[in-house]
Amino acid sequence: MSSDLTAATGPRRRLGEAPPVELLDDGERLSRTELTSLQLARLKATLRHAYDHVEMYRRKFDAAGVTPQDCRTLADLARFPFTTKADLREHYPFGTFAVPMAQVRRLHASSGTTGRPTVVGYTERDLSVWADVVARSIRAAGGRPGHKVHIAYGYGLFTGGLGAHYGAERAGCTVIPASGGMTARQVQIIVDFQPEIIMVTPSYMLTLLDEFERQGVDPRGTSLRVGIFGAEPWTEEMRRELEDRLDLHAVDIYGLSEVMGPGVAQECVETKDGLHVWEDHFYPEVVDPITDQVMPDGESGELVFTSLTKEAMPVIRYRTRDLTRLLPGTARPAFRRIEKITGRCDDMIILRGVNVFPSQIEEIVLGTPGVAPHFQVLLSRRGRMDHMTLRVEARPDLAPPLRATAATAIAQGVKDGVGVTVEVTVVDPGTLERSLGKIRRVVDQRTV
Ligand code: DLL
Repeated sequence: MSSDLTAATGPRRRLGEAPPVELLDDGERLSRTELTSLQLARLKATLRHAYDHVEMYRRKFDAAGVTPQDCRTLADLARFPFTTKADLREHYPFGTFAVPMAQVRRLHASSGTTGRPTVVGYTERDLSVWADVVARSIRAAGGRPGHKVHIAYGYGLFTGGLGAHYGAERAGCTVIPASGGMTARQVQIIVDFQPEIIMVTPSYMLTLLDEFERQGVDPRGTSLRVGIFGAEPWTEEMRRELEDRLDLHAVDIYGLSEVMGPGVAQECVETKDGLHVWEDHFYPEVVDPITDQVMPDGESGELVFTSLTKEAMPVIRYRTRDLTRLLPGTARPAFRRIEKITGRCDDMIILRGVNVFPSQIEEIVLGTPGVAPHFQVLLSRRGRMDHMTLRVEARPDLAPPLRATAATAIAQGVKDGVGVTVEVTVVDPGTLERSLGKIRRVVDQRTV
């Protein structure tokens, strides 16, 4: 048995260590100076690739009066235009792809602000880079070859399940592709298969925790030693709770479909002090969300990413809408960190890991006869689960007995169109509280 495997099967504290140097990949071994010169070379190539192969970027660069040759230093990136989710949606489904479809090996999609999702594509090389960065994330979290990894992120168009899956395989782990749902069975599998690692949204981990207790399984006594939690915001208090109740290391993984999927940034288990951005593939900037100015490291603002190696769908200065700040590297000194994501600068709701925009709900409400376009989303926690309630005002002419019909139609529309379960109540006209004439669209009573 190799010493790696011995360490892997040791007690929890043995898993809280940095990976041995021989397990690091070439990118992780770069010095900061080597990394920045690699970034510049890759940035120039990406700007050229996007300009030459994606009409949207050519138009945007032309309109801003810049060409790829204008990028001589990393700071020159600030002269290039931003890309938003709306830009990608406008070119739905494949309009921002930079390679012929025959070279695209996989598609994923994430919720858009309206009915249309944002579609993302990957070449074979993109998929390989993605597996590499997720493998790097798993190692940083304490995972080692020979570990079993239980993946309870959803498999499908969402990037969580398959992204984690191929990364865990690349890391030399044994994958348990549980996907989401069927909570009682998940617990059984964990008890029987004895995984050391679990990758799941933190809110679903809490649900699993309750299910352990319901089945009479001591959560501190399971084989789980590391939880790699992401896809939604979570706090230091939640980390403490998860670590105490499960006796494992809880670390944060960040990513987004437009940039790749999970594995854009990862917290190292030995420091648990924010997430190292895998900067050899994803170049981060933080900008003031109002003035669009680039902020110096250390100051908070909106996180913006430029891909450095993506072939199928390069992204230039993509506005994530996530709020954080850039900090110097610690456990991996060459890579800067982002502080845990504290919020978003748009109104996107993350409900049990699913992204929901109020505008999607609005579309469904508008398409339902008998109700006014006045609604309010109430987010709460029932037990451990996020719960969404929707209150919609009836039109004055809607006969009271038909309210239940309208409510059912809206709930079904949200389930089909957005993919989440919502409880809908149709209320009297004019009853939703208005402030300066406006209804507060989202009332979030969850304490993260
Ligand atoms: O959530 C990818 C992912 C899957 C990340 C599994 C980590 C684990 P999207 O569905 O495109 O992709 O949603 C991206 O989710 O802009 C953030 O607002 C939020 N998000 C993702 N990870 C974190 C995190 C995946 N660790 C959006 N903390 C992002 C806070 C997160 N928010």
